Amino acid sequence: MMDKIVINGGNSLKGTVYISGAKNAVLPILAASILASDEVILSNVPRLLDVFAKTKLLCNIGANVESNENILKIRIGNLDLTELANDFYARQIRTSVLMLGALVHRQKEVKMPLPGGCTIGERGVDLHILALSNFGIKIDIINGCFKATAGKLHACDTVLSFPSVGATENAIITASVVEGTSFIRNAAKEPEIVDLANFLNSMGAEISGAGTNIIEINGVRELNGTKYAIMPDRIETGTYMVMAAATGGDLLIKNTDLQLLESVVSALIRMGVCVRETKEGVRVSSSDCLLSTDIITAVYPGFPTDMQPIITTLLSVAKGESTIEETIFKNRFDHVPELIKMGAKIKIKRNTLHITGVNKLHAGVVNSNDIRTGASLLIAGLIANGTTTVTNANQIFRGYEEPIGKLVAVGARVD
Ligand code: EPZ
Repeated sequence: MMDKIVINGGNSLKGTVYISGAKNAVLPILAASILASDEVILSNVPRLLDVFAKTKLLCNIGANVESNENILKIRIGNLDLTELANDFYARQIRTSVLMLGALVHRQKEVKMPLPGGCTIGERGVDLHILALSNFGIKIDIINGCFKATAGKLHACDTVLSFPSVGATENAIITASVVEGTSFIRNAAKEPEIVDLANFLNSMGAEISGAGTNIIEINGVRELNGTKYAIMPDRIETGTYMVMAAATGGDLLIKNTDLQLLESVVSALIRMGVCVRETKEGVRVSSSDCLLSTDIITAVYPGFPTDMQPIITTLLSVAKGESTIEETIFKNRFDHVPELIKMGAKIKIKRNTLHITGVNKLHAGVVNSNDIRTGASLLIAGLIANGTTTVTNANQIFRGYEEPIGKLVAVGARVD
């Protein structure tokens, strides 16, 4: 890992990219593994800083985690939560909050730092608190920490005011071992929710409806160990598709599933990008002239907010005027001033970007404030002639496995 990435741009990317396991699937699955009564073996685990942080957090509370390449073996055993409130790693990532519902099944009172993660908007936790309190878990926030106290937990029927991915995951994990039948209504429908439910069902849980807006969970007494392969990362897939289009390249993208990102594929096709599914994988190439288009981010299956910073870079060099309306996060625009430094023409009006395409971006020194900002600037560096430096590049390694190795393998000059 390094804290800056230097890109000599201008090359077209050609060759094969292998997509890794999904960050936003493995992180909730690691939280749910706390409930396993026996060994959990996960495969296709991406080697990411956020996954490292989550496994360190599990080890700090007494779990045994063995890591070998893209395999994790987890044995929970007896947990010691006395130091959790001061845990460094718990403050690093957003999904530490997903452990609350699992931990209160092990220890009636749990103190944990409020979550960290990408600083995009205020990222509330009120829906998590609502979901957990419906089960009979009392949540207080004291000195920057959650204090969760579990009485007799009971099944419940939770209606989310917004289909929060994390709150849906927290409720599923908690409900899986609470006696009775629980419901989550207006649930998030993201594919990572389905992967979490499939993982828990492979341990003996009884969850149905994942991927729809009503999820039903019949709580079971115990969850067994399991072997489970993490789904492909749809945002990494979309990122490399944009890289192929942005550099006028031709990439074969393997180990992925285009059905996970149909809204991204249709936006790229509207822009004139050629996307073909072949038996070897997904071929992505682009003409020299990318077309402008308008995008509105939305919950699944709409255009994913995580692709918003990334498609902003592509639209910056498309012909004509484009708009992107960001409806999920307030102010997810840290990439915009950095792209403007590289010659992009973008105006922010409330929660909408107004982009005027330019012929070329120029190299520069830019800062990556979060994972997807980092990806958008990396792509800008691949487009611009000359040497671009992306600082705070550890953000990129939080969410992308081996980005430099994968890019160099297809002709990028990056180090
Ligand atoms: C998950 O975050 C992802 N992270 C995010 O990906 C992704 O952008 C987001 O879902 C939306 O798809 C992981 O899965 C680890 P939310 P999460 O709860 O669960 C508000 C990336 O780059 N909200 O659906 O935090 C919140 O402020 C990351 O990979 C509340 O107000 O997303 C936001 O505006 C970034 N109160 C919106 O809902 C709550 O209690 C969406 O949040 C919870 C959320």
